Amino acid sequence: MQIELLLENYINTLPDSTTKSAMLYSLTAGGKRIRPLLLYTVLKGYGIDPAIGNPFACALEMIHTYSLIHDDLPAMDNDDLRRGLPTCHKQFNEATAILAGDGLLTYAFEVAASSTESSETVVKCISILSKMAGPSGMVYGQQLDLEAENKYIDWEMLQRIHEHKTGCLLTAPLLMASTLAKHEEDIPAWKKIGFSLGLAFQIQDDILDIELTANEFGKSNSDQKNHKGTSVSILGIERAKEMMNNLYQSVIEQIKSLYGFDSAELLEYVYQIQKRRK
Ligand code: IPE
Ligand code: IPE
Ligand code: MG
Ligand code: MG
Ligand code: MG
Repeated sequence: MQIELLLENYINTLPDSTTKSAMLYSLTAGGKRIRPLLLYTVLKGYGIDPAIGNPFACALEMIHTYSLIHDDLPAMDNDDLRRGLPTCHKQFNEATAILAGDGLLTYAFEVAASSTESSETVVKCISILSKMAGPSGMVYGQQLDLEAENKYIDWEMLQRIHEHKTGCLLTAPLLMASTLAKHEEDIPAWKKIGFSLGLAFQIQDDILDIELTANEFGKSNSDQKNHKGTSVSILGIERAKEMMNNLYQSVIEQIKSLYGFDSAELLEYVYQIQKRRK
């Protein structure tokens, strides 16, 4: 079943409430679904039926969507447009957006725990997901990002922010897929791939924030308004682009060097991400 339908079905089983409507609104607003697609593509590369990844793919997208809802709140980036639509707190209100985020975060773990894989595998995947999403992962990166507003930060610090706020949730699907495929020996390699990909992806996000209009980007481009330290503000746009392309190239080489993994589809997907204008 397609990820779009799966997500909708999971939300539809919840009791009707404003929180539920807001969860559904943000979740079905049409993101690129990169984290679920990475999970499915890695499973396929290992020759595993991607359907076994469904609960984890949905959990990842729920957590990612919660992170965006909270990232857009007035207390954080204070943005009005997300996935081509008014942000959750603009469409509903702030309290509802906070609860929709809380709902997506907690429901993600209920959904992940419903997997019919062995309990040992499920616990391992849930542990990866919570570590990557939580206060040593994405949440930590978001805290550093907020503290870096209106301040000079160096490239080392920015890299730390990017790797946590963005790299962690892009690494989680790679680690979960190798765990589901019983190829945990590859986890150290996937961690390196995920963090290079995360850094490349966030540098690209910083570049697109400058180059695109909000309408083209489908979200508010507010980095300058918020005085964020970004790859563009620190490196300049040309060096940022060079760094991004080098990182994508390194992701591609690292994937190619995985032994016993059919990399064709994943490489194609990484090329597509590298070319994105959204
Ligand atoms: C946006 O992520 C937040 C960042 C980590 C830059 P995506 O670019 O994957 O957003 P959606 O899911 O397609 O909306
Ligand atoms: C935040 O980075 C990434 C998250 C953890 C949500 P940004 O603040 O740059 O993401 P966008 O540009 O609003 O999507
Ligand atoms: Mg932010
Ligand atoms: Mg933001
Ligand atoms: Mg951004």
